[in-house]
Amino acid sequence: MPKLAGNTKLKPTKKADLQVVKQPEVKTTKYSDINLKRWKDYAHVLTSSLWLFPSRLKEHGHSNEYHGNYIPQIAQQMYERYTKKNDIVLDMFFGSGTSGIEAINMNRRCIGVELKQDLVDSVSQKFTSKQLVTDVNIICGDSTSDEAAEKVKARLEIMGEEKAQFLMLHPPYDDIIRFSDKKEDLSNCESTEEFYDMFEKVAKHGYDLLERGRFACLIIGDSYKNSEVQPLGFECMNRMRKLGFVLKSTIVKDIQGNERGKGRTANLWRYRALAGGFSIFNHEYIFVFQKP
Ligand SMILES: C[S@@+](CC[C@H](N)C(=O)[O-])C[C@H]1O[C@@H](n2cnc3c(N)ncnc32)[C@H](O)[C@@H]1O
Repeated sequence: MPKLAGNTKLKPTKKADLQVVKQPEVKTTKYSDINLKRWKDYAHVLTSSLWLFPSRLKEHGHSNEYHGNYIPQIAQQMYERYTKKNDIVLDMFFGSGTSGIEAINMNRRCIGVELKQDLVDSVSQKFTSKQLVTDVNIICGDSTSDEAAEKVKARLEIMGEEKAQFLMLHPPYDDIIRFSDKKEDLSNCESTEEFYDMFEKVAKHGYDLLERGRFACLIIGDSYKNSEVQPLGFECMNRMRKLGFVLKSTIVKDIQGNERGKGRTANLWRYRALAGGFSIFNHEYIFVFQKP
């Protein structure tokens, strides 16, 4: 029998000597990195259906130079709750690129479609050449067209994905702000009915390009036409439901800096509201859907 060198009597290991590396407990959903085991750490993630933001975030690449952009806090909330790191957000109305900027800030990727070439050119300046290859792909095109959908598919493939993991839709609110005089522009429709039909085409492309089980967000406000409310929000929401999206949340968000309710014209609008029986819009909707 071979002899053991030195003290052959093995001492029992004390508990303190053992380096126990305790793995943190993690439980997430398939679509988010939120650790449900530590759900109390996420007090900043909003779960209420009423969102009040005192001001627009202007730091971290965001600015307010584009009339009609959404506030970055919406992207922050949506991405944290409904996406994972490295996921691809598809924005079919890219505008000044809020979705893309926040994707970079939060380690997500983004594909954006925007109709106006000059806007695509200026928004591209907000990203580095490398980011424009690996993280943010901007397509100049008409989101209602099959051609744009094909281009999105091609970009997804280049980025190593078959489908997007989140869909952002922030269309024009009918003709409240005219973004261009192009006939493909949703803000340039001949009627509100035509606006709904064009919106539905975009939402259908979005549905087809989104991964199953993933989420979509529609940001939209209503309008007044001929002394009557046009319920753009509810109608667009319903069109999405008819396409197969499952409605998960209806959020009402306050609008800060609505000139119709503030400043010099405030009294005029108040008078008109009192005389005409309507309310001054100070809210918009954020609808959240899931693709089953
Ligand atoms: C409400 S803005 C979106 C703003 C954007 N979310 C942001 O934060 O900057 C709507 C945008 O949709 C664009 N648009 C309108 N019709 C379009 C179409 N058919 N295809 C693609 N973009 C379109 C407009 O040019 C405008 O920039």
